[in-house]
Amino acid sequence: MDRLTVHAPAKLNLVLDVLGKRPDGFHELRTIFERISLEDEITLKRNNSGKIRIHCTHPHVPRSPQNLVYKVAKILAQDFSIKEGLDINIIKNIPVAAGLAGGSSNAAAVLLGLNRLWQLGLNNTQLDDYAGRLGSDINFFLYDTSYALGTGRGERIKPLNVKTKLWHVLVTPRVKMLTKDVFSHLKLNLTNKKDNVNILLPFLRKGDLLRLAGALSNDLEPAILLLRPDFIRLKKKLLVAGSLGVCFSGSGPSVFALAESHKHALSLRAKFDRRYTQSFVVSTL
Ligand code: C5P
Repeated sequence: MDRLTVHAPAKLNLVLDVLGKRPDGFHELRTIFERISLEDEITLKRNNSGKIRIHCTHPHVPRSPQNLVYKVAKILAQDFSIKEGLDINIIKNIPVAAGLAGGSSNAAAVLLGLNRLWQLGLNNTQLDDYAGRLGSDINFFLYDTSYALGTGRGERIKPLNVKTKLWHVLVTPRVKMLTKDVFSHLKLNLTNKKDNVNILLPFLRKGDLLRLAGALSNDLEPAILLLRPDFIRLKKKLLVAGSLGVCFSGSGPSVFALAESHKHALSLRAKFDRRYTQSFVVSTL
């Protein structure tokens, strides 16, 4: 096999509870991930240059060793003494630094892809270990599941057997928000903390969209709004347009609305402010 094309979907967080700050500086989380139908396409191609080269036309995707996909390829090449080179071509559809884990999903896709292309024979535990070492959001994408519970830094994954298919309008303002900055603006209030995961889960399982909409929550919202107070207007506009519920995804700035159906999502987006050029109708994948 000389080349391989893989798809890398985005995620939303239906709930994101921050339970506390850990001694290693990371935050302990409880989150529900949803895989969505907004995907990048990545082609891996062997070459004889001995170099790892990233190709992507998107201006905000680094082609340097800082890119997570480079780190994945580099560490695997080192660990398995692979001397040949690799071209990684990324067709970017997922907005960058947007709370949708596009970079992490690319990393997971390359990890799974190289395991096949280079015939490394890594088992699920080993793949999980590589993913967890490189980031907090990569592991979820190793599991073939629509929804999962994420704990620890977000890297400990328990797939959820939930059949409900959701429809959303996703709006991403053209502003990069760094996860690190958002976490550093977080003021933790841990008294009377609600278990938002277990509040939402039964509604998700039953497909009770109205109650599900009311249970969407993200503890990073106050920190996102501290950095960008104007984003509260975006949430309000989506609600006024007729969404069932609205929430930030991850560390923002992406905001997603819960719609009743595909048709409802299309009509919401049509009504929505044309200034937001990055808006998508997406469903659970
Ligand atoms: O792991 P990842 O590279 O996605 O995290 C980016 C940054 O976000 C971390 O360096 C850390 O500052 C913050 N973070 C955190 N707690 C988490 C995940 C991320 O504080 N659970």
